[in-house]
Amino acid sequence: MLLQDKRLLITGILTDDSIAWHVARIAQEEGAEIVATGFGRGLRITERSVQRLPEPCPVLELDINDPAQVEALVADLTGRWGRVDGALHAIAYAPDDALGGNFLTTPPESAGTAFMTSAFSYKTLAVSLLPLMDAAGGGALVTLDFDNTQAWPAYDWMGVAKSALVSVTRYLARDLGSHRIRVNAVSAGPLSTVAAKSIPGFEVFDRVWRERAPLAWDGANPDPVARMVCVLLSDWAPMTSGEVVHVDGGFHAVAVGDETG
Ligand SMILES: NC(=O)c1ccc[n+]([C@@H]2O[C@H](COP(=O)([O-])OP(=O)(O)OC[C@H]3O[C@@H](n4cnc5c(N)ncnc54)[C@H](O)[C@@H]3O)[C@@H](O)[C@H]2O)c1
Repeated sequence: MLLQDKRLLITGILTDDSIAWHVARIAQEEGAEIVATGFGRGLRITERSVQRLPEPCPVLELDINDPAQVEALVADLTGRWGRVDGALHAIAYAPDDALGGNFLTTPPESAGTAFMTSAFSYKTLAVSLLPLMDAAGGGALVTLDFDNTQAWPAYDWMGVAKSALVSVTRYLARDLGSHRIRVNAVSAGPLSTVAAKSIPGFEVFDRVWRERAPLAWDGANPDPVARMVCVLLSDWAPMTSGEVVHVDGGFHAVAVGDETG
């Protein structure tokens, strides 16, 4: 199996629509052992959601911006496993005034929050897991990107944070390669999750994708994204690092949809 005996930390499970929930499901089906994290008021929802995984897994509380919670997570994993083979970073947040067409008036604090939670946090996760990944002899980290090569309606400072996240991915790949740790991102097409629905006008993304993506994109099916995350967490991408792998139905490659057919 693809992830036989891998010990993986999966952040970002809220509901069973969460991309991270589907990564955890497929990873378990492929032989991995999972610990999930839940955040703040959503923690109880995460605890309920993991009951619907093939094997309900432990949930640890993690606010990635709270050093005490990060420390407690690492202490738990050290006692529980003593090593970590890989992790999914599926964490993003931007305050309301950083989204929805407020780009020109967003206060610096809100833009800063979007950056800290959605981009800098990949570095926080990577550095905190480093001793545990060293103990495993290396491993893989994966994060989730949304296309940031163009400006989108409403995405605003989250789009800027995603650009930073891709840059963080490259710098982590540079600095963690000597630890045999691969650091990658999956750029996903629009999927119907809690985070997506909190972006005003998100349905526009969905419509544009259906019109333009060469492959029939289904915003209700997170499987293709979750499968690629599992590949990158596995031993089947041993020389891929600092990469952004698109799982978007080919959307990024074409400018206009095929209107002939
Ligand atoms: N849904 C999409 O269309 C789409 C497309 C591309 C990329 N992504 C990215 O995928 C990732 C997961 O999002 P999702 O769509 O599955 O939505 P989601 O709402 O299910 O997941 C977002 C997660 O971020 C967590 N989070 C927020 N602030 C946190 C903090 N301070 N500490 C720890 N966790 C925190 C939430 O608890 C939640 O579990 C995000 O990075 C999102 O930007 C989503």
